[in-house]
Amino acid sequence: MKNITCIEDLRRAARRKVPRAFFEYAEGGSYAEETLRANRADLERIKLRQRVLVDVSERSTKTTILGEPVSMPLALAPIGLCGMQRGDGEILACRAAQAAGIPFTLSTMSICSIEDVAAAVDKPFWFQLYVMKDRGFARSLIERAAAAKCSALVLTVDLQILGQRHRDIKNGMTVPPQLRLANFIDIATKPAWALSVLRGKRKTFGNIAGYLRGMESVNTLSQWIAGQFDPALSWKDVEWIASLWPGKLILKGINDVEDARIAAKTGAAAIVVSNHGGRQLDGAPSSIAMLPPIADALGSQIEIMFDGGIRSGQDLMRAIALGARSCLSGRAYIYGLGAGGQAGVTRALEIMRNELDVCMALTGITSIGGISRRVIASMEARQSGAGNPPSTL
Ligand code: GLV
Repeated sequence: MKNITCIEDLRRAARRKVPRAFFEYAEGGSYAEETLRANRADLERIKLRQRVLVDVSERSTKTTILGEPVSMPLALAPIGLCGMQRGDGEILACRAAQAAGIPFTLSTMSICSIEDVAAAVDKPFWFQLYVMKDRGFARSLIERAAAAKCSALVLTVDLQILGQRHRDIKNGMTVPPQLRLANFIDIATKPAWALSVLRGKRKTFGNIAGYLRGMESVNTLSQWIAGQFDPALSWKDVEWIASLWPGKLILKGINDVEDARIAAKTGAAAIVVSNHGGRQLDGAPSSIAMLPPIADALGSQIEIMFDGGIRSGQDLMRAIALGARSCLSGRAYIYGLGAGGQAGVTRALEIMRNELDVCMALTGITSIGGISRRVIASMEARQSGAGNPPSTL
């Protein structure tokens, strides 16, 4: 891992090691992938102010998320099929996150179940919920997460139906993988991956096993989602979920000021400004473009998290500067997982924490609380953001 110096290195290594269908499932976005690209492009356009001759000898990336101490303002995002990037991937990523002192979020559509992960780690993790039409099943997932002592419930609100991902269809992505000739050749050239998945606890969706019928191809996966996920999910259901969940509730997938205002009144502990990593509404603005107006509208009413294109410590700085209290990142750690299992996730987290630390020093900042819009240099970012640029710049 020594020569791995950035998340892009991990991405390249993962692309070599993980079968194409699963790598591209995580990598890709919906339709023309305009929003997927905008998430990264808009982050890169935000320039940071280089400040000098500030004493930065004592600095810390530590902060809190929902009142819990963390080593940096980052949590691992929920990723469907995480355990298909590497066998038992959810357990490996959770262990790496916990060792690094940040939260891990287990997806409803994970391979290892809530109970598998709870039995394999010694600290609480977060659980991400998709709500099925069968409300009894949604309720049972919430109860299982509570029984496993999950410390937050992340309700994803932007996937009532699935945005089409062309690559998944073209790759014939299936869970478990089908051994058609093209897949077979691909998998045969990735023996370490094959071994890890063969040795893994499960080969299909652990949380919904038993509830799952006929998931032989990606078409049936999206048909299954279309048949099972509830497109009627509404703000009223957020109240219902909050009434069932005894802990902290996070609403993930808010990318609009009006929705953010409604979300802030639900009693949820936090929102995640997110467009589902460019995987749902193609043509939606990047999440970083929506962060400043949402932060301005909400003030300190609710904790704001940010998700959408985070690949570096500099990106963490950008999002915190524009109003997030912390961030989620999915692909950055999935690349680490595919590249090197638990050690790869650990490396991804070390890279981002070190980058954030150096970035703080070079912008003259010594604590996460000291990051504000004053670190933003570029006019472009300030104007596309709040419409309320800081007067001190
Ligand atoms: C599921 O959450 C996905 O984006 O594929």
